[in-house]
Amino acid sequence: GRGEFSHYMLKEMYEQPDIVLKEGTQTLDIPKELSKALHITLIGCGSAFYAAWGGKYYLEQLANRIVTLELASEFHYRNPVVQDGVTIAVSQSGETADTLKAIQYMEQHGQYTVGMVNVPHSSISRQVHYEILTKAGPEIGVASTKAFTAQLLCLLKISMNLMQDSVRKQKILKGLKQLPLDMQKIFFKVSQLQDIAQHLVHSKGIIFLGRGMSYPVALEGALKMSELSYIPGQGFAAGELKHGPLALVDACTPVVVLAPMDQFFEKTVSNIYEVCAREGKVFVITDNAGAEQLAGVPVQDIFVYPSPTTWELHPFLSVLTLQLIAYYTALHKGCSIDQPRNLAKAVTVE
Ligand code: M6R
Repeated sequence: GRGEFSHYMLKEMYEQPDIVLKEGTQTLDIPKELSKALHITLIGCGSAFYAAWGGKYYLEQLANRIVTLELASEFHYRNPVVQDGVTIAVSQSGETADTLKAIQYMEQHGQYTVGMVNVPHSSISRQVHYEILTKAGPEIGVASTKAFTAQLLCLLKISMNLMQDSVRKQKILKGLKQLPLDMQKIFFKVSQLQDIAQHLVHSKGIIFLGRGMSYPVALEGALKMSELSYIPGQGFAAGELKHGPLALVDACTPVVVLAPMDQFFEKTVSNIYEVCAREGKVFVITDNAGAEQLAGVPVQDIFVYPSPTTWELHPFLSVLTLQLIAYYTALHKGCSIDQPRNLAKAVTVE
């Protein structure tokens, strides 16, 4: 049951620090086919696709692999040309029809397949050559929260398995030990997120911006907002602003900007100024180090989470923040949180 929590989603968000605590520093076994693969294809739908997208950054940056990202619901219909290699299919339920189809297509074309699933003994588990369990525990809320975090963690751990630079690896490991506590600290500041949600609840649309790994996190935040509160959330790469989305900005359109202190920080700050100059209401999500630099910038609000030891860990903190904002926005609106309208937990039709 959901115990003291008013929704499964709330319970599942609160379980995330424990998942990182339990699984963060456990070694993950991976098949030799994956260890040897130079080219890896990542595939999934919805939130699983965004987690896979984060995994692409990890595998490229940490493990120097060539990574192709594919949306399962588009993939096999294209009849794409496929060479040998390894496919990792990411799916919470292990039942998503499009993802299963994509795996079958890859196998027919000679690929070795790995299923990264949360539900053991699922259809995808039975189909693939090798199964990696995300071990988030049962996820009841239709909106994925802890499963997303567990997927991202598994993808980070795979990348750490494959990486050469042991100094950097130790740094990430050290950061992973600290991470659960830093995630907990976000819950201590939940009243600020409730206030932000109060601001967002009356808007007709909300823009989410991020660069680097924060880009798929922004997309995930936009999806969470849309499915839970029915307020259209649109995620963009912050660098795309001038290529169109800036036209959406006015005094009534809130813009949530992920601005962690990473290699993109200064670029993101200039995007914040661009939005402010058009009277856009900016809500910044950043860490301590970023917040220091943002003093005096004319934004609506800044939510600050603890600075992680290394950039790879920002998504765990920023996605939790966005999940909570979407949750409280939906709560203020009185939406059906655990079962958003028109949606099902497992999408078993194409
Ligand atoms: O079970 P799967 O991970 O394969 O499901 C994929 C998507 O249907 C799922 O992530 C969906 O987007 C969620 N409702 C997002 O919160």
